[in-house]
Amino acid sequence: MPRTVLCVVGARPNFMKMAPLLAAMRRRPDRLAPLLVHTGQHYDAAMSDVFFDQLGMPKPDIHLGIGPGSHATQTAGIMVAMERVVADTAPQLLLVVGDVNSTIAAAVVAAKAGIPLAHVEAGLRSFDRRMPEEVNRIVTDALASYLFVTEESGVVNLQHEGVDASRIFLVGNVMIDTLDSLLPTIRERHKAAELGLSAGEYGVVTLHRPSNVDDAEMLARWVGALEVMARRLPLVFPAHPRTAARLAAEGLADRLSAAGVQIVEPQPYVEFISLVADARVVLTDSGGIQEETTVLGTPCLTLRESTERPATVTLGTNRLVGTDPSDAVQALEEALATAPLKPPPPPFWDGHAAERIVEILDGREWTALGTPA
Ligand code: UD1
Repeated sequence: MPRTVLCVVGARPNFMKMAPLLAAMRRRPDRLAPLLVHTGQHYDAAMSDVFFDQLGMPKPDIHLGIGPGSHATQTAGIMVAMERVVADTAPQLLLVVGDVNSTIAAAVVAAKAGIPLAHVEAGLRSFDRRMPEEVNRIVTDALASYLFVTEESGVVNLQHEGVDASRIFLVGNVMIDTLDSLLPTIRERHKAAELGLSAGEYGVVTLHRPSNVDDAEMLARWVGALEVMARRLPLVFPAHPRTAARLAAEGLADRLSAAGVQIVEPQPYVEFISLVADARVVLTDSGGIQEETTVLGTPCLTLRESTERPATVTLGTNRLVGTDPSDAVQALEEALATAPLKPPPPPFWDGHAAERIVEILDGREWTALGTPA
């Protein structure tokens, strides 16, 4: 009998991480039976459905339909629904990716139900617990039997937290598996041309962290900086629903448009990576985009005080600019004056991380953490 692996996704950045893991498990149908759960944390077609289509993901076996809410409301809602799913499906393993609320909610349920837990993208730390994702990462890692790590810093962080080496596996980056496999399609997409932009002559902006967009004053300062930057180079801004709502509420969307910043809908995966691949520079507060730009060789200016992905900075493609908008304006000038780098990617960011993970999991008995021998 194949062993059942309950695979949980919820938010946009989960989908491109889970897709190659599902594909790798489906290549072993006599040994592994993945069951896909979508929590519904992200529910818009543009934030969810289109990713399933482009990534060739099977439709979720189970959809929890949880939707938005405060952190506690959302996390608790997912936990209540997941507890039932775990009881009904009796999985041998629960698999989570990344650091969103769906990740921590499913992890806590697995631990309480005595189900062994695997966490993909473990060990990353920004050392800033004001970020909800940092709390999600710490708790999830504390509960997982199998910790799959993308970069060396993650191994060191987990060791410092006292995690036994037998739980830690440096396997590379499943998100890059997806990027590698879709690169031919991405290269043919030329989304920039469709928006009237020339390759190498525009910047891509993404901003959605609560710390950058929820505070009206902070958001207005970012808009001011983008107005200045747009004089230097055309900017396209695929706006997350949270950001679009905040810009509209503050009457700032019109100001950006008047300054020539193209605000567009959240983009599907292929279109978004096509835009990033052809850009001269990316300005972002995202986590994953720091890694995608590293592989694509697009200079990235990270509009945050910290990064949980230091390898991207060490390699030189990513620069941590901070959250003072005037620093970002200066950093853009410097980036435009410097030739882009295309360093070799970190170890194991080679398109085969998911296969490694599935090989490791398939080759062992699964035990919940802290089960007395
Ligand atoms: C979540 C993740 C964040 C990730 C981001 C990527 C957490 C704590 N945060 O943040 O790490 O970088 O996803 O997108 O899990 N909304 C919609 N439609 C959607 C989804 C969201 O309109 O399909 C709106 C809702 O009004 C919602 C708000 O966006 O209240 C925020 O969504 P939520 O999932 O709570 O957090 P994100 O900001 O998307």
